[in-house]
Parts: sequence; C-alpha cells; structure tokens
Amino acid sequence: MRERWASTLTSGGSRGAEPPDHDWTSPGGTDTVGDVKGFTSEAGRVRRLGAFAAAGLLLALTGCSENAPQDTMEPAGPVAQKILDLSEPVFLVAGIVFVLIMGLVTVAVIKFRERPDDTGPEPEQIHGNTKLEVGWTLIPALILFAIAIPTIATIFDLSQKPDNALNVTVVGHQFWWEYRYDDLGITSANELNIPAGVPVELTLESIDVIHSYWIPPLAGKTDVIPGRTNHMSFEADEPGTFLGQCTEFCGLSHANMRAVAIAHDPADFDAWVAAQRATPSAAAAGSQAAEGLTTFNAKGCAGCHTVAGVSQGKVGPDLTHLYSRDTFAGSMFDLTEDNLRRWLEDPPGVKPGSVMPDLGLTDEEITQLIAYLETLQ
Ligand code: CUA
Repeated sequence: MRERWASTLTSGGSRGAEPPDHDWTSPGGTDTVGDVKGFTSEAGRVRRLGAFAAAGLLLALTGCSENAPQDTMEPAGPVAQKILDLSEPVFLVAGIVFVLIMGLVTVAVIKFRERPDDTGPEPEQIHGNTKLEVGWTLIPALILFAIAIPTIATIFDLSQKPDNALNVTVVGHQFWWEYRYDDLGITSANELNIPAGVPVELTLESIDVIHSYWIPPLAGKTDVIPGRTNHMSFEADEPGTFLGQCTEFCGLSHANMRAVAIAHDPADFDAWVAAQRATPSAAAAGSQAAEGLTTFNAKGCAGCHTVAGVSQGKVGPDLTHLYSRDTFAGSMFDLTEDNLRRWLEDPPGVKPGSVMPDLGLTDEEITQLIAYLETLQ
C-alpha cells in the first residue's frame, strides 16, 4: 500500500495506467498510512460524518442569533406578516421536495454505486420512459400551480394602495435616504419617522443609481430606480425602531447605506411633525455656534445642505433638524460629537465614495461647525 502511494506521487499519478487491485472496504487498520487510507476506512467515514455534522450545526446555530434586527421571520406589521404567511407554506413544500429528491439521490448513489467486485455486464441501457417523464413533468407543474395561487393573491393584495395612508417620498442618494413628507411640508433624512398603526405609502425615487429599499420587519424590498417611480406600503403594529438597508449594489458605500424606520405613538408622531416644522432658533451672536454658521457658509456646506432660513443646498441631507435624529451619514454613525468630528475631518476617509468631500477643515472650524450643528434641534 505504502509503496503504491509513494510511486503514484513520484510518477505524477500516471493516469492511463491500470490501478492496482485494492480493497476499498478495508476497515482502517494499524498501518501508518492510516491517514491516507482514512478516506475509505471506517474511522475516516466517522470523521467525515463528524465534519458534516459540525458544519450543519454551525449553520443552524448562526440562525439562532438573538441580535437579528433584520429578521424577516419576526414581522412587525401586517405587510411583513402576509409575506411570512406566504413564505412558510412555500418553504415547507420546497423543504419536502428537497428532502425527498436528495434522499432518493443519496439512496441511489449509495445502493447502486460501483463496487470493486462488480464484474458483471453494464446495467441495461435505456432511452426514454414515458411514465416517468410524464410524472416528473406533471408533478412539479402541479406543485408550481398550487404555489402560484396564494403567491399571485398576495402580490395583488400587497399592491393595493392603503386607505388614509401617510404619504412619504423616499429618494435614494449615494449613500443615504431622503424622506419628503410633502403633505406635511417636512424633509428629513436617514430615519423614516412614522406613526404606529397607520399605513404608510412610500413613493420611491432615485437621484443617481439603482438602490433598493428594505426594512425587513415591515415589508419586502422594492427597487429604487432613477427615472422611474415605484411604490410600496407598510404599517408598523407597535412603536419601535426597525433596521434595514439598501439592498442593491450602488457604489463603494452600498454596505454603509442603512435604513431606519422609527414608529411612534400617534401623539408622539404629531409632536415630531410639529418639531420638524418649526424653524430652529438662531445661534446667539458671538457664540461658537454663530462662528460655526459663518464657517458653514464660508466653506461651502451651505451649497449642498439645506438649513431652513439659512441655505437651500440639495445635494446632501437636509440638516434643519439634524439633532432630532440619532444617526447620520446614511445611518452609518450614531450622532455624537466624536463621530461628527471624525466625519468632518475626512468624509470619504470614513465612508468610501462619499459625495461629501474632504474640505480640509481645521480643528477649530470643526469645533465651531459641531457647535452650530448642535443648535439644529
Ligand atoms: Cu444604495 Cu446600495
């Protein structure tokens, strides 16, 4: 045995040569070539099974994570619930088909495999079997037909525009979301604020490339395409914060383009609306914040960002009420002074592909700007 492996290795594995007789069913042994023979021995089989089981267990355990805010199996509203109600029976059918087919293939592979003592003639060679072919055409067709009925019903159901919905226009930008509540006269960014228990109708548009809007606990994903208007609707059953993300590759910071939906009690939502409509109070003359406003205008920030009463830039997020939000830069960062400083020092450095350039701000200018931004409540 040892000689054979050695000669195979040194001769580069002469493919054409007839393999020497060997016993594939040999039950391992004490031979020092045990590791190589282990591929076929009983011990090797156990080891392989163990490896498969460990891989399967690992895969299963990753599904048990407690911290899974983007879990479609935990719907937080009627739209996500309907999607789950459709997926579960489809998954069940697919699971049964998978186990059945893979089971039959496994049985066939093991039971009818070639054995070393197979010296008999080849099995009968056949071509065509009408009964089988009709069967394996008809059965899948019937299964697909059965699945199509609830699928189509759900698609039509979910495409209905809800009555008395809150309308929000969602605009995808590289790499952040703009939210326009045209009926309410509000523009915000990154965090979608909605009332719980009220249907929301989203109008989806893109300013640059294709994005996709997805808040898994609330609804399925919908592409956001330049030159085209798409719609989706959902509703949050209870107040809460729901995480999502852009799910269409849209550039370097696609993975940093997150989405957050915050559902409020209706009364809290009304308070949020009132606060968003108010104009932030002006920075006191001579204060650091007032210096920051000067820097905001001098360094070109005003050319890209809107602050009500100050500037009308449209390239970046509306900052009028920046500090009413918890996150910034596509919800990539929590809104803290430290994070703002890191961001202002070099935006593309912390968020690759960021449209906001490195303005070469000094530490003092950054301090002033942060003081100003903090007044934008
Ligand atoms: Cu926007 Cu990916």
